[in-house]
Amino acid sequence: MTLTPSHAANASPDEIAGRIFSSLINAMELFCVYVGDRLGFYRTLHEHGPATAPEVAERAGTNERYTREWLEQQASAGFLACDNPEAAADERRFRLPDGFGAVFVDPESLIGGASVAQILVGTVAPLPELLEAFRTGDGVPYANFGKDMHEGQARVNRPALTHLLAQEWIAAMPDVDARLRADPPARVADIGMGQGWSSIALARAYPKAQVDGFDLDEASVTAARENVRAAGVEDRVAMHARDAGDPDLAGQYDFALAVECVHDMSDPVAVLSAMRRLVGPGGTVLIVDERVPDAFAPNGDEVERMMYGFSVLHCLPVGMVDKPSVETGTVMRRPTFRRYAEQAGFSQIDELPVEHDTFRFYRLTG
Ligand SMILES: C[S@@+](CC[C@H](N)C(=O)[O-])C[C@H]1O[C@@H](n2cnc3c(N)ncnc32)[C@H](O)[C@@H]1O
Repeated sequence: MTLTPSHAANASPDEIAGRIFSSLINAMELFCVYVGDRLGFYRTLHEHGPATAPEVAERAGTNERYTREWLEQQASAGFLACDNPEAAADERRFRLPDGFGAVFVDPESLIGGASVAQILVGTVAPLPELLEAFRTGDGVPYANFGKDMHEGQARVNRPALTHLLAQEWIAAMPDVDARLRADPPARVADIGMGQGWSSIALARAYPKAQVDGFDLDEASVTAARENVRAAGVEDRVAMHARDAGDPDLAGQYDFALAVECVHDMSDPVAVLSAMRRLVGPGGTVLIVDERVPDAFAPNGDEVERMMYGFSVLHCLPVGMVDKPSVETGTVMRRPTFRRYAEQAGFSQIDELPVEHDTFRFYRLTG
């Protein structure tokens, strides 16, 4: 992913209008990516090669006319190629250009794009409820965002968890990496694991480790259990529907982590305290959360703008369901997180020297 550092400050009204028009096109193209992803159009083109609208419709089990419109829209957007645009409508052959499977089909690709479309659709699912929440100050429960949000979130992070969690992030803590490989088998607590890809990645990277995942959302835990079974690691990975802030949460773990979820929590200090308790004195906790600047400023860079979008539409309302709430939102800045970690009793807060476009890595001990 390439991120531009910032967009122009002090733009003219015409430029802002132009930006909004471009956003309309981009947003609609993302919704059309969602259509192709959910209906299996990209997959059929990837598996069977170039095809006409009747062929794609036949393979995907969809209506021919709708399918042709989608294929033409995709070619117009530059997402698909059409080798014979002059041919009669039903004879035009569309194909996924070389390498585009990594964007639209491969679930473990670090340049995956279909997951982004799904999370966008999930994010806007409860918009009427969101407007009401703005008026009342109530939250919008994570469950109400539905399957596209939960699955989209899991799919967006799965590639990084699969390829980077053990290989780069934990590798940046050689003592933890060594413990996870050693005997007696290490125990790991994966807090807010959603659909379980972090737990699965850990079990695969560390064949001796035993992982317990804890997440509040029942639907996510059910999906996580299915993913764990499909990955063949159910003998070492258990998924629990549990509030990680529960003071009764007990156990002795060698390592605890929480990926992209502390900013969603109404009481992050309770959860961080529980994590500190779970790993005991000298144990290590890893918090992976958003890489945003230390202070607010207008005309943010692309990461900040994306995080504010998720915050307004999803994370802040999710974090305002349980009262009282610290009301963090997605844009959890470094000083805010450090305060939570200190209040939870951690004496040492280090940042791992790991490069990542959107994540920052806090190692907590003490
Ligand atoms: C943005 S999702 C991240 C899921 C997963 N870690 C990932 O990277 O895909 C946040 C998750 O934190 C969970 N969560 C929030 N508060 C929690 C709490 N107090 N205890 C356990 N899980 C919690 C939510 O249910 C949700 O699955």
